[in-house]
Amino acid sequence: MCYTMVDIFELIQSHTRVFYLFIILCSGCTYDNVQTKYTQSECDLLNVTWSVDIEPLVNQFCVGCHQGSSPAADLLLDRYEVVKNSVLQGGFSIRINKPITDPLKMPPNATLDSCAIDKLNMWIANGAPEN
Ligand code: HEC
Repeated sequence: MCYTMVDIFELIQSHTRVFYLFIILCSGCTYDNVQTKYTQSECDLLNVTWSVDIEPLVNQFCVGCHQGSSPAADLLLDRYEVVKNSVLQGGFSIRINKPITDPLKMPPNATLDSCAIDKLNMWIANGAPEN
């Protein structure tokens, strides 16, 4: 079979379209995989510990206001014993799980992502150990 220039041009064009379609489909798949991997490997709820997960969260999101000689609400959260105390009293869990629009939500000045909230809840459900 003998191709004219026009035939060859059309052949390349149709292949280009298939090629672009391929790229679009594949980038869609890759994105899905990355999302799945992210939620599965980045939010590990099986091995939540005070020292690795919880203390850094409390230091970053709570200690700023709940420390020093006149802490917010007279509530210290600057070390394990006082955090555990707040957990046992119930306020800690109630405040971090308030809806984002609730002015009583803690922290009031930032938003914990769902992985952070899940880790805090898992740690509390485990009995808030100092591990
Ligand atoms: C920007 C300052 C600020 C940050 C950060 C903050 N809080 Fe508070 N917190 C307050 C203030 C002010 C109050 C008192 C007003 C109120 O009850 O909402 C309060 C009250 C509370 C109370 C209620 C205490 C009581 O006696 O009823 C709890 C529990 C609490 N915070 C926990 C936390 C936790 C847990 C974090 C971190 C996840 C946090 N807070 C971060 C300012 C802050």
